[in-house]
Amino acid sequence: MHANIVVLPGDGIGPEIVSATLPVLEAVAARHGHSFSFQEHDIGGIAIDRHGEPLPASTLEAAKNADAVLLGAVGGPKWSDPNAKVRPEQGLLAIRKGLGLFANLRPVRPHAAALGASPIKSELLEGVDIVVVRELTGGIYFGDKTRSATDASDLCRYTVAEIERVVRSAAALARSRRGHLTSVDKANVLETSRLWRDVAARVVREEFPDVTLEHQLVDSMAMHLLSRPRAYDVIVTENMFGDILTDEASMLAGSLGLLASASLGDGKVGIYEPIHGSAPDIAGKGIANPYATILSAAMLLRHSLGLEAEAAAVEAAVSSALDDRVFTADLAPAGQAVDTTRAAQAVIERLR
Ligand code: IPM
Ligand code: MN
Repeated sequence: MHANIVVLPGDGIGPEIVSATLPVLEAVAARHGHSFSFQEHDIGGIAIDRHGEPLPASTLEAAKNADAVLLGAVGGPKWSDPNAKVRPEQGLLAIRKGLGLFANLRPVRPHAAALGASPIKSELLEGVDIVVVRELTGGIYFGDKTRSATDASDLCRYTVAEIERVVRSAAALARSRRGHLTSVDKANVLETSRLWRDVAARVVREEFPDVTLEHQLVDSMAMHLLSRPRAYDVIVTENMFGDILTDEASMLAGSLGLLASASLGDGKVGIYEPIHGSAPDIAGKGIANPYATILSAAMLLRHSLGLEAEAAAVEAAVSSALDDRVFTADLAPAGQAVDTTRAAQAVIERLR
């Protein structure tokens, strides 16, 4: 097949991890008789520098017309003045919203070889296989904001339709896995959470009677995620809770540098990006972990291009590189780390 992939390297380590990942996609294409074209565009801080805005219209337009979007990361100290009118993160939020990508899938599957890198005891991690489905285009991220000299506010708002569609995506995913869905909210305090809980219960009861639904409060969920991670299959939650819980969940896998994500909507085009940020502290050194971006590219092959065998091949190749302890600095004991390019090369060598 031919696919047109829009590439948004962004800021910090974004360009390094993305340019390490493109050769992996090229190798997959060569091996399976596909041709992928890559069209690079600006987003985030670099877009502010070059175009005066974090999401230029040309970038959004290209993304809308693409088969899929591969994104690195946005943000950095250069643009992080809290009083700045435009910030890199606004570009990321705007492209998610602009493409209608309401469901953000973040798989958490600790790899045996990397268990030692996790601060959690290995015996709690074996067999952990979770997908967090984070609502991505609503809630407090997108509500009205106010700021005066003496106060500030962020509105958290959800509509029934917004909750229904993301719960449906998550329940359908649970049905294809172990049939267990955990919906996370703060229904003991927040009105949006009480609506969330009601809607989740109804959608699952009416449309997914074969899926078991459990409700959890976000504070105790934060604890259970570390104390009994094996108990979870698919977790669905609102935007900000999902943001926080998935950084926490990355510690189950041993490194933030291993967690991939797919942002999906009703259409075929999705955005695929690692869940980590632009890591300005290590940017430009060529030492960032490319596996999360490579695993995001695998999700791109699966969800936007329908290439399941190719996606599985990339995932197996990353697994095999990890088995062989091809570790970047976030995973390796001091002195034993490989650089970004070498890690990506190891994946390419292991592709079948
Ligand atoms: C993420 C990031 C973003 C978010 C930031 C960079 C806006 O933390 O993708 O998890 O909060 O969604
Ligand atoms: Mn985050």
